[in-house]
Amino acid sequence: MTDDLAALRADTESALAAASDLREWDAIRVATLGKSGKLTQLLKALGAAQADQRRERGAQLNALKDVLAHAIEARRADLDKAEIDARLARERIDVTLAPPPRPHGLIHPISRTMEEMAAIFGAMGFRVGEGLDIETDWYNFGALNIPAHHPARADHDTFYMPGQRDSRPLLLRTQTSDVQIISMLEQPPPLRVIAPGRTYRADHDATHSPMFHQCEGIVIDRGITLGHLKGCLIDFLRVFFGIATLPVRFRSSYFPFTEPSMEVDIGWNRKTGELGGGGANSSQDWLEILGSGMVHPRVLANCGLDPREWQGFAFGMGVERVAMLKYGMPDLRPFYESDVRWLRHYGFNPLAPAILHENVGA
Ligand code: DAH
Repeated sequence: MTDDLAALRADTESALAAASDLREWDAIRVATLGKSGKLTQLLKALGAAQADQRRERGAQLNALKDVLAHAIEARRADLDKAEIDARLARERIDVTLAPPPRPHGLIHPISRTMEEMAAIFGAMGFRVGEGLDIETDWYNFGALNIPAHHPARADHDTFYMPGQRDSRPLLLRTQTSDVQIISMLEQPPPLRVIAPGRTYRADHDATHSPMFHQCEGIVIDRGITLGHLKGCLIDFLRVFFGIATLPVRFRSSYFPFTEPSMEVDIGWNRKTGELGGGGANSSQDWLEILGSGMVHPRVLANCGLDPREWQGFAFGMGVERVAMLKYGMPDLRPFYESDVRWLRHYGFNPLAPAILHENVGA
């Protein structure tokens, strides 16, 4: 190859290498292979050469044209690829970024626990009944066989309210047991009602709040026995706590509105706080969880039911207490403090799947 052709090749190749975008690249292409490009000019000039030189020079020019055409195309491919890479880098989405914040609304553990109770008892044919937070002393005490001056009234640290209804003193109900009376007056038997709701007692310390929640239950029908009460509560407790072998103990007790009355204990380990039966080497302790009994004949009569025809059982439990046990919450007070950190930790996703209630005996 003659010197001028070698120089053209070297110049073009270094210009191509220096081209940083397609515009610069195209200028080089035109200046080399375009109509008046350098190589095109050299090819045109071939006609004027002497015949013996023309062959050799022509072959050299054609070879150079191939080389440069190839180099130009190769550079274009490089620039195209660089541009795609730059665009991909520009438009990159970082999938490792933190997800957007989750929705703030969560179900409060008290609401959730009451929903669980409604779901489990609902599967056993109970409906959900309601009472009033402000009640007369008749519904809260009198009709429940707790007359004025009965010592049980003193246990309840009652908040009395100004005014009267039906010539009766008003109070903030101290227990959901008022719904026993409401249910029997409202609906002729047979009936199965649970009533989760707010209750109030003038008591405030680490384990007591002046406002708290209970869930009452009542069943009235013909031929109801203690066996029904036991079966119903054992099933409920085992489903609620999700422990099929949860030990349940019925212990004789006293409530004015039930006869006989029983407190119900479940098995747990005092040292670990774990619910369930004691294994071979661990000790089995008992924890009181609810009150229950056969509805007192006088309470039935107070609601206009003949105790010789109708029998029933009733039970009541503290919602916070069972929630704390189920969800491992050490302290009662945060339930009412609206601390979002606590709510975020213990709250429930409102869009979570429905509450399960398997193995519920009817
Ligand atoms: N009302 C009782 C309380 O507040 C709990 C209770 C005990 C409710 C026995 C009942 C029952 O229905 O049968 O301590």
